[in-house]
Amino acid sequence: MLGILSNHSHKNCSMKNIIITGGAGFIGSHVVRLFVNKYSEYRIINVDVLTYAGNLENLSDIESAPNYVFERVDIVDAAAVDALFDKYQPEGVIHLAAESHVDRSIKDPLAFVRTNILGTVNLLNSFKRIHEDFEGKRFYHISTDEVYGTLGKEGLFEETTPYDPNSPYSASKASSDHFVRAYGETYGIPYVVTNCSNNYGQNQFPEKLIPLFINNIVEEKPLPVYGDGQYTRDWLYVVDHARAIDLVYHEGENGETYNIGGFNEWTNIDLIKVLCAQMDEKLGREKGSSEKLITYVKDRPGHDRRYAIDATKINKELGWAPSVTFEEGLAITIDWYLSNAEWLKNVTSGTYQEYYDNMYAKR
Ligand code: NAD
Ligand code: DAU
Repeated sequence: MLGILSNHSHKNCSMKNIIITGGAGFIGSHVVRLFVNKYSEYRIINVDVLTYAGNLENLSDIESAPNYVFERVDIVDAAAVDALFDKYQPEGVIHLAAESHVDRSIKDPLAFVRTNILGTVNLLNSFKRIHEDFEGKRFYHISTDEVYGTLGKEGLFEETTPYDPNSPYSASKASSDHFVRAYGETYGIPYVVTNCSNNYGQNQFPEKLIPLFINNIVEEKPLPVYGDGQYTRDWLYVVDHARAIDLVYHEGENGETYNIGGFNEWTNIDLIKVLCAQMDEKLGREKGSSEKLITYVKDRPGHDRRYAIDATKINKELGWAPSVTFEEGLAITIDWYLSNAEWLKNVTSGTYQEYYDNMYAKR
């Protein structure tokens, strides 16, 4: 897929090249859209291998923009990553590509080791290799609050909370965070890391709680609630995460970590009940009909009890705060899924059903 423009034109043109990895995925597509629309002086190179979670349909509105390029590259392939960096000489990397689903990491940890750890180190190596000095350059790693492990009833994750990952997914993200820091200390790569809480919004693959349950309610399928349903997550609307990423990329301090969260904690069961009520209303179904689909199932192994983010640092130092309430964000999200049935149908074709058929085996 390399080769749309010559090396020469990329090295000498006045546009700044920024690589965004995982741009065809859920959060990445919102980040790519924001950067392409807001910064005509940047060429945004979306680097994505298009796994089951990557979908170029997510970016159909900006695919013809003059400052947007797509490159289908597997970040696990060191030679392909090297060729990509030689071609574009990116000043910045905003790295979101990852295997992102905890349940899948329980089934196949090695896929997470390969993409999340090896893929990140490949990007760091290529970035280090192409730059003689790092003035004005930046490597930004998008990470998760799951690296901090689990909270009890009280307290919040702060930037200084020790890492204590419990799932293969969070262990792989913790490892990649450490590699980014280590490359900063050892080779002087200017980096920033952000650790964000649970995102929801348009274009999220329907394996994560909110879009899975929206899809199942539409299809009148069971809503599988893990364990006692009293697990707590801190939910953030994806566009607000993309706004935070823009801010940190441009104004964050090198070598710093910023936590990002919605100050918006919900137990799963309370959130599911709100979702069910909104779905009944929007689908014009009898009150209480979606709740009847709730089915308690065997718990996720190693399930973290509670996540909650203290986002004071990014708020105080960079002035970021969420722009929508949870009620607003959830309503936008449900409306989007209900009016994008074709998208939902497309992403749930292929191996989707097979995944769910095997999902609860041997947990
Ligand atoms: P996603 O699964 O929706 O998208 C991941 C994207 O990465 C897909 O487009 C996929 O094709 C691409 N990808 C996967 N493996 C690749 C490889 N080997 N080479 C190139 N591309 C590859 O993920 P998401 O939910 O948008 O998460 C994006 C990032 O944000 C991840 O790093 C994740 O850990 C982090 N994060 C997610 C959340 C959340 O709630 N979803 C919260 C905090 C942090
Ligand atoms: O906290 C940030 C993380 O949030 C991100 O780093 C991950 O990429 C993202 O997947 C998300 O992880 P979670 O495991 O918290 O998200 P998930 O949507 O899978 O689950 C949310 C909660 O709902 C969790 O307590 C498990 C529960 N759950 C999930 C599913 C899919 C259910 O009860 N039933 C389900 O079917």
